[in-house]
Amino acid sequence: MRPFALPRQSDVASTSVAAESSVLVVEQRASLRPFNSFGLPAVAHTLVRLRSDADVRRVVDHPGFGRAAKFILGGGSNVVLTRDVNAVVLKVEIMGRRLVEEHADAWVVEAGAGENWHDFVAWTVDQGLPGLENLALIPGSVGAAPVQNIGAYGVELKDRFESLEAVDLVTGRSVTLDAAACRFGYRDSAFKQHLAGKSVITRVRLRLPKPWRAVLGYLDLERKVAETGIASPDARTVFDWVCAIRRAKLPDPATLGNAGSFFKNPVVSAEQCRDIIGRDPEIVHYPMPDGSVKLAAGWLIDACGWKGKTVGRAGVYEKQALVLVNRGGAHGSEVVTLARAIQESVYGRFGIRLEPEPVIV
Ligand code: EPU
Repeated sequence: MRPFALPRQSDVASTSVAAESSVLVVEQRASLRPFNSFGLPAVAHTLVRLRSDADVRRVVDHPGFGRAAKFILGGGSNVVLTRDVNAVVLKVEIMGRRLVEEHADAWVVEAGAGENWHDFVAWTVDQGLPGLENLALIPGSVGAAPVQNIGAYGVELKDRFESLEAVDLVTGRSVTLDAAACRFGYRDSAFKQHLAGKSVITRVRLRLPKPWRAVLGYLDLERKVAETGIASPDARTVFDWVCAIRRAKLPDPATLGNAGSFFKNPVVSAEQCRDIIGRDPEIVHYPMPDGSVKLAAGWLIDACGWKGKTVGRAGVYEKQALVLVNRGGAHGSEVVTLARAIQESVYGRFGIRLEPEPVIV
């Protein structure tokens, strides 16, 4: 089953431009609706499908595309398209997954950037290569995972990261980047900062530590342990639990367009938090190692009465206020209007500015 997969086909016929010994697959006026998990309408003036590192170099060397502005599209699960895209859209479709090496203390696995993230996680569990199960069902592609350092249920991508391959969009050179070079932060990396739009991630390698230990510290997983009485679940069980937890409170983009959490959980100083708790003792918050405090953005939005609300054709998901949804036929501008209204109301009540997680184009 591919519960979060987006349709692969475009409704526009492909043309092929001969280049070197192979061909670059190029489409003109391609609909991007099937390629963004919100299901928002937008057209790419030019869309190029990248199926290999060599394709990236062909784009760099191409007389028309080489110097043009470019927009890299992964799984389309972290983007709000508000308009047609004039930049050359590079749709990453580099496939393949393998066990690279096995060490005494870890397995190293690799996947092409175009692979569906959840399918890759499921494959590792099937192969008896545990360690990614807490990250099951996160929508998007393997190549997009390091861009925003995806995380869920106590595990972040950076905790399992080995290295990645990328091709520089100016020089066409391939580079290998380690974790330090990727500058991972909370839903953040160099690819959202100084490397944004500058290089295409083609392959990602992950390090799965041995011996495997279940990560069960997250409240929802602790509840599963208590409910089932299984104190030492195997990786398959954790995978199944995470899938069940996510399905119960997050909408499937195949049936209801969305981009997962729409805002980051804001981090405030301990003093600010004491102030807020004084006014709202119920507020859900998590102390951070450096003394700051992370607040649950979903709780803040919920407290402002947004859960289940609809503005235009965009809305706030009924079961999780942090997720904005396309109620059907929404335009990107409607999603942005709703997001701004939520930001204003949270700022008005709590004095906190919520920062969107997806890239708004
Ligand atoms: N809450 C409410 N009302 C709501 C939503 C949440 O009161 O409408 C409360 C919950 O009861 C809970 C707290 O807020 O006590 C936090 O909610 P939850 O555990 O669902 O996690 P989250 O902070 O909303 C984060 C990530 C998710 C990730 C989950 C699980 C961010 C922005 N979001 O969500 O990541 O799956 O934790 O680890 O960090 C994503 O980034 O797209 C994403 C889905």
